Amino acid sequence: MHASFNLAATFDAVLKTAATSAGFDAAEFSPEVRTADPKHGDFQANGVLPYAKRTKQNPRALAEKLVAALPADVREATTVTVAGPGFINFTLQPAALQNWLRTFSTRAQLEAGAASAYAGKTWIVDYSSPNTAKQMHVGHLRSAVIGEAICRLLAFSGARVIRDNHVGDWGTQFGKLIWAYKKASASEPAGLEVALATDPLAEFERLYKVGNNASDADPAVLKEAQQELVKLQAGDPENTAIWKKIGEVSFSAFQQIYDLLGIRFDYTLGESFYNDKVDRVYRELVDCGLATESQGALVVFHPEHPRFKEQPFLVRKSDGAANYASTDLATILYRTEHFKADAAAYVIDSRQGDHCQQLFLTVQKWFAKTGRPVPHLEHVAFGTVLGEDGRPLKTRSGENIKLKDLLREAVERARRLVDERSTDVPEDERARIAEIVGVGSVQYADLSQNRSSDYLFSWDKMISLEGNTAAYLLYAVARIRSIFRKLDAMPGDATTEVAANAIETAAELALARKLVKFSDAVALATSSLRPHFLGLYLYELAGEFSAFYAADKVAVEDPAVRARRLLLCARTLLVLETGLDLLGLRTVNRM
Ligand code: ARG
Repeated sequence: MHASFNLAATFDAVLKTAATSAGFDAAEFSPEVRTADPKHGDFQANGVLPYAKRTKQNPRALAEKLVAALPADVREATTVTVAGPGFINFTLQPAALQNWLRTFSTRAQLEAGAASAYAGKTWIVDYSSPNTAKQMHVGHLRSAVIGEAICRLLAFSGARVIRDNHVGDWGTQFGKLIWAYKKASASEPAGLEVALATDPLAEFERLYKVGNNASDADPAVLKEAQQELVKLQAGDPENTAIWKKIGEVSFSAFQQIYDLLGIRFDYTLGESFYNDKVDRVYRELVDCGLATESQGALVVFHPEHPRFKEQPFLVRKSDGAANYASTDLATILYRTEHFKADAAAYVIDSRQGDHCQQLFLTVQKWFAKTGRPVPHLEHVAFGTVLGEDGRPLKTRSGENIKLKDLLREAVERARRLVDERSTDVPEDERARIAEIVGVGSVQYADLSQNRSSDYLFSWDKMISLEGNTAAYLLYAVARIRSIFRKLDAMPGDATTEVAANAIETAAELALARKLVKFSDAVALATSSLRPHFLGLYLYELAGEFSAFYAADKVAVEDPAVRARRLLLCARTLLVLETGLDLLGLRTVNRM
């Protein structure tokens, strides 16, 4: 059996070949190999039952036929059984596990095992996407963290990934903000200058509130603010300069957060970028009969949809101005034309579900009618971050928690943990470890949950060495690194590994059996765009490693036993580090 790193793919290929010689209709049969419930084996093929149904045959008999057609080397390397209505279970023999452990020792080899799944596909990932003139708050955390993990997963599986930060940098709020800015610079220029030099984004946020309150209180102010907006839209140089400054200040504040989270965007094409691209959208939507005028506005209905047959998708406001929907339509056109995107993932709060559905339905029909290939569009929806009281997380005074404050607190709390444990680590390294553990804990608390649900933010649970936490996983990595340090060995060093004899203890075998499932965990997390599947796998792997480490001593005299255990340590380390990196976490050498 030619074992590749991705064993599910190996069995898939083997079964396809066997199916042809067993007389299956190859075009109709897909083996569907997945990680098996450990009770049944290592991998299970589920594809026989649906094939049997389609071709009106007995599934068990078909499965037996398929197994009989397996080549001799596969039967030697595995125990194959047929269960239930034609499931085929494979259990790898210890020697096969050992051979597999030797097929890889670098991340590039892991990647090669995954890279065919999305090869040739261009994915746009639209994530983070905050609004300018406002500080990022806890509500912006999930999109950034989940989005980055999804980018890494897709790229690992061979996709060309384009990270696009679709910032909200256009809209009516700028009229009020410019109004307040001009008032402040006329009446208290010195104060404004100081505030802008200290925390410019906080100052713009404050000015917006001033402008907004004044507009609410006084219709004359509202008129003036609207005039400022009209001037901005018409390209007035003074207002454009203020707007640009707001953008710059916002981006430099966002960047500090992105740096901490390890995020680097390929593009930041905000809503304003599409200002001159919406007219074409209106024209096309009207020409292909999708959009209709309604009291000056342009709307799209979806007659086949229970709600959207009556609830319009407003694609141009009645005053002729573009809105969130017009921009999003122009954006997808640009993404397909300019970037040749095959797919786009929108990592946005589930409360924008209707917007996404209406957008996707509109794009599907519009592209089909105009003869364009229809891209695969996915709303990567997520729930709200809740406080321990079960309500959206806020500060004690009811304000949104600023993301920079939250991350700072995480690092401080992690520092306490590091100080307790790592008394022998020098000061500057402790600070670095605290940053990685603190930020990683916040990221991982989010990524370890199924994104569809709300998640409860709890400092005590997230910065803990117990449970499915970042600290637990980072500690597992640090512990393996320390084993190598103590034995003065290098992970993955071929000269050590040739000396290894066959793995045989229950704990060794269980660890190897967990390692072979990495590819499948990555594939599941990627195809469902749900990073928690990978998180859960890594947690279970770290657990198997602990059990192995407790049961089987690594630093034994016998060089062959020591080498085989170091082989297991090295592979576990590689898989843990790669997996954590795919989730966007950095790791530490000691903790
Ligand atoms: N700026 C928007 C918000 O804060 C999110 C944009 C998401 N991306 C998109 N293409 N609509 O709600």
